[in-house]
Amino acid sequence: MHSLLLISALLVHAACGKSNFDLISPLTGSLNGGNVFAGASLPYGMAKAVADVSGANTAGWAYDFSNVTGFSAQHDSGTGGNPSQGQFPISIQPYCADDDLGKCRFGSKYERAVDYRVGTPRAKPGYFGLGLENGVDVGVTVTEHSALWNFEFTANDTDGHKLSPLVLLDLTDLQDSRQNASVAVNPDTGRITANGTFLPSFGVGSYMSYVCVDFKGAEIRDTGVWVNERAGTEPKELFVNRGYSLYYIQAGGFVRFHKPDSNVLQARVGVSFISAAKACQNAETDIADWDFDRVRTAAEDAWKAKLSTVSIEAGGVNESIQRTFFTGIYRTMMSPQNYTGDNPLFQASELYFDSYYCTWDSFRTTFPFLTIFDPTTLSQLITSYLNIYKLTGWLPDCRMQLCKGYSQGGSNADNVIADAYVKNLTNIDWTLAYAAIKNDAENEPFDWGVEGRGGLQSWKQHGYIPVLDYDTLGFGPPYHSISRTLEYAYNDFCISTVAAGLGETANAAKYLQRSGNWHNLWNAIQTSSIKGNDTGFTGFLQPRYANGTWRYQDPIECSPLDSFCSYSSNPKETFEDSIWEYVFFVPQDQARLIATVGGKANFIRRLDFLHESGLLDISNEPSELVVYQYHYAGRPGLSAKRIHSYIPSAFNDSINGLPGNDDSGASGSFLAMAMSGVFPVAGQNVYLISPPFFESVSYRNAVTGKVATIRNVNFDPAYRDIYVQSARLNGEVYTRNWIGHELFLEGGTLELTLGREESGWGTREEDVPPSTSSSGMGGYEGVFEVRAE
Ligand SMILES: *[C@@H]1O[C@H](CO)[C@@H](O)[C@H](O)[C@H]1NC(C)=O
Ligand SMILES: *[C@@H]1O[C@H](CO)[C@@H](O)[C@H](O)[C@H]1NC(C)=O
Ligand SMILES: *[C@@H]1O[C@H](CO)[C@@H](O)[C@H](O)[C@H]1NC(C)=O
Ligand SMILES: *[C@@H]1O[C@H](CO)[C@@H](O)[C@H](O)[C@H]1NC(C)=O
Ligand SMILES: *[C@@H]1O[C@H](CO)[C@@H](O)[C@H](O)[C@H]1NC(C)=O
Ligand SMILES: *[C@@H]1O[C@H](CO)[C@@H](O)[C@H](O)[C@H]1NC(C)=O
Ligand SMILES: *[C@@H]1O[C@H](CO)[C@@H](O)[C@H](O)[C@H]1NC(C)=O
Ligand SMILES: *[C@@H]1O[C@H](CO)[C@@H](O)[C@H](O)[C@H]1NC(C)=O
Ligand SMILES: *[C@@H]1O[C@H](CO)[C@@H](O)[C@H](O)[C@H]1NC(C)=O
Ligand SMILES: *[C@@H]1O[C@H](CO)[C@@H](O)[C@H](O)[C@H]1NC(C)=O
Repeated sequence: MHSLLLISALLVHAACGKSNFDLISPLTGSLNGGNVFAGASLPYGMAKAVADVSGANTAGWAYDFSNVTGFSAQHDSGTGGNPSQGQFPISIQPYCADDDLGKCRFGSKYERAVDYRVGTPRAKPGYFGLGLENGVDVGVTVTEHSALWNFEFTANDTDGHKLSPLVLLDLTDLQDSRQNASVAVNPDTGRITANGTFLPSFGVGSYMSYVCVDFKGAEIRDTGVWVNERAGTEPKELFVNRGYSLYYIQAGGFVRFHKPDSNVLQARVGVSFISAAKACQNAETDIADWDFDRVRTAAEDAWKAKLSTVSIEAGGVNESIQRTFFTGIYRTMMSPQNYTGDNPLFQASELYFDSYYCTWDSFRTTFPFLTIFDPTTLSQLITSYLNIYKLTGWLPDCRMQLCKGYSQGGSNADNVIADAYVKNLTNIDWTLAYAAIKNDAENEPFDWGVEGRGGLQSWKQHGYIPVLDYDTLGFGPPYHSISRTLEYAYNDFCISTVAAGLGETANAAKYLQRSGNWHNLWNAIQTSSIKGNDTGFTGFLQPRYANGTWRYQDPIECSPLDSFCSYSSNPKETFEDSIWEYVFFVPQDQARLIATVGGKANFIRRLDFLHESGLLDISNEPSELVVYQYHYAGRPGLSAKRIHSYIPSAFNDSINGLPGNDDSGASGSFLAMAMSGVFPVAGQNVYLISPPFFESVSYRNAVTGKVATIRNVNFDPAYRDIYVQSARLNGEVYTRNWIGHELFLEGGTLELTLGREESGWGTREEDVPPSTSSSGMGGYEGVFEVRAE
């Protein structure tokens, strides 16, 4: 008999508490490198509107008090490197000096930028606003493909000047990547349309973008175009190229208005990747009524609907911690962006999402979180991956603005697909998915810098990616041989899982065997010193030539104790992280890794040293799983202790509350999973159990309608009692320190009784998650034996 039948409805939050929606703070992570998008967006929305600043503007806005360069309607969230999108910003001047058009400011957006006033920035899901020093208060809300800006004049006759606002549209983007562009202004209606070619922020090629701006609230006074410092009322159309040599042309269109009737001038901005006409149609359809409150309420309702599948019982935990959790969840729905029906690559009926930015970041917790939180959308995201495969011949690793992006390691879409497969995600063409991931393992693309894998001949022949690999089949960054070996090995494990499920037995065995390739880079005698002090650990991964001879890379290189190894500078044989940390990236076979480093005690000492020596950068994604790998050594309590050392000290709800880039929600989903008490081992039907940060967390599965609850007994909101003493699943004793996705598909309650010291719970050999070299990986048989029906 199924005790989960007793659970009939999702628990509603306590009446005195704030709603999930009210606990979201979009400004979190908008200062000090979080690079989150702080503006107005729908879940997975294409229109993302915010004020752009001249400072840390990767996502347009940052709370760094740099000046506002304009207001644009398309962005990415949490990325690093070049600022992304921000094409066609508009900006507003309440008047021109002496009421003379020639005395308004044109030219570079930086030169005519305006400061914002202290205390004015405000953001809620679907809304952003701030007050400018020029007396204009700005608010914006969005639909799927449109933004509605309210410009409110808080000073009517500023300094004795007559209010006669000028709005200009700038043919540029955040990274000043514009190539050719055109603008046209309709003198009768004031409508500005524009198109332009821009460059993707982390990829190859270019893309065309379109915009359509309409106004309401004031009569048109004059219209025209501007080039560099000068504007004129004729002509009404303009074509520019990028410019010449280092000289970048500044240009755009403008509309000047008479004094607004009600002190509010509205600008309605439609965006499109198809045409300016489509951009206009998007805006006309989405916002026919110009009703700001209606549009904002609709956006809020969309967010509330998404948030309705999760609930907590806070159990006395303060609002700051609750906000950290719900804001993390919120950020997982910024990317990818839904471009279905508004892109030139696919038919309107074909699902297409963009801003997979990048799968290297998001395979670990972002997509696994969606298997629990939003499986319907995840099915669409995976179908979109497969549509991209059908179009280009390859699954993407990184993709943005309709362009191929740079791969950072393996073909990690394989992991996303395997994760969804073992969790029985519905509405996926698994035959096609299997063809796509097998293609990654077998065929080398010419440009493996943006798709697939490189060095496949060596991979098949030597069983590792050699340093300085001799490869004439395809080309890409000739580095990262260690991290690529590790990731390719895990990719092959993931492919093996899907192959096994589809009855491809021989291939399953082949890929499973390749998944052991990581071990070929293990140099058992390698030591590691920090500034001349031996760390005392022996045995590290090392670069290896094709002839089998070792080359040396200091195991601490690319760690915070050494220099950062980014994609474009200081590339080494490990990508963005040290050998010290990459050693642990063997999620398929922790049992063999534990044996390789000399047993559980040594494994734990290594993990401790990694976390406590300064070698680990908690802001980067490879650090996520190593917080929890103590589970594999039968010490789940140490994972619980470790996660509390990072939340809230490194991840919290303040504006500087992220230790690094959010990476399109990767740190948001890390928080969501960690604080829910189930940490995913992406690609496997395994969640590592540790106590939720609240008395309970519940998820209602949107597909099955079932509710899963993870509940703490003896919950301590001060987090002193964080060690599981015993567990029950639907009332039955549960001894494993991990659990499968069945909990979320079938519903049920996992109850964890907490205490102040580590206990024997989850410590036995049979309690730890499976590894390929131990108890029959792929089987998972008996996981739910206590729930026999
Ligand atoms: C805006 O800030 C940038 C630096 O971030 C500066 O170069 C520029 O001069 C400022 N613009 C104005 C109008 O003050
Ligand atoms: C606009 O002018 C009116 C009349 O002078 C004045 O009462 C009002 O305070 C002004 N509004 C602002 C926002 O300055
Ligand atoms: C820019 O316009 C020129 C002249 O019309 C054309 O030859 C060129 O192909 C265009 N380039 C791009 C990137 O659109
Ligand atoms: C861009 O806009 C100009 C001016 O409106 C127009 O002539 C041109 O056809 C447009 N180009 C594209 C590719 O839509
Ligand atoms: C994406 O857009 C398409 C077309 O409007 C829609 O059918 C689909 O449900 C959307 N998906 C999400 C997750 O927004
Ligand atoms: C997925 O479906 C298969 C076949 O019905 C079943 O054996 C397996 O337990 C399911 N996995 C999960 C996570 O529910
Ligand atoms: C080396 O280790 C010793 C003993 O632990 C310590 O006192 C010393 O400061 C360390 N030196 C450096 C350079 O870290
Ligand atoms: C293997 O290749 C490396 C790099 O070319 C070379 O330095 C080394 O001497 C070679 N080792 C052997 C045993 O040939
Ligand atoms: C919040 O997180 C940031 C970024 O990691 C950190 O610098 C700050 O100290 C944290 N704040 C608190 C109160 O722990
Ligand atoms: C909220 O609780 C956490 C965990 O006990 C604590 O670290 C933090 O300081 C508290 N924050 C506030 C604002 O009280």
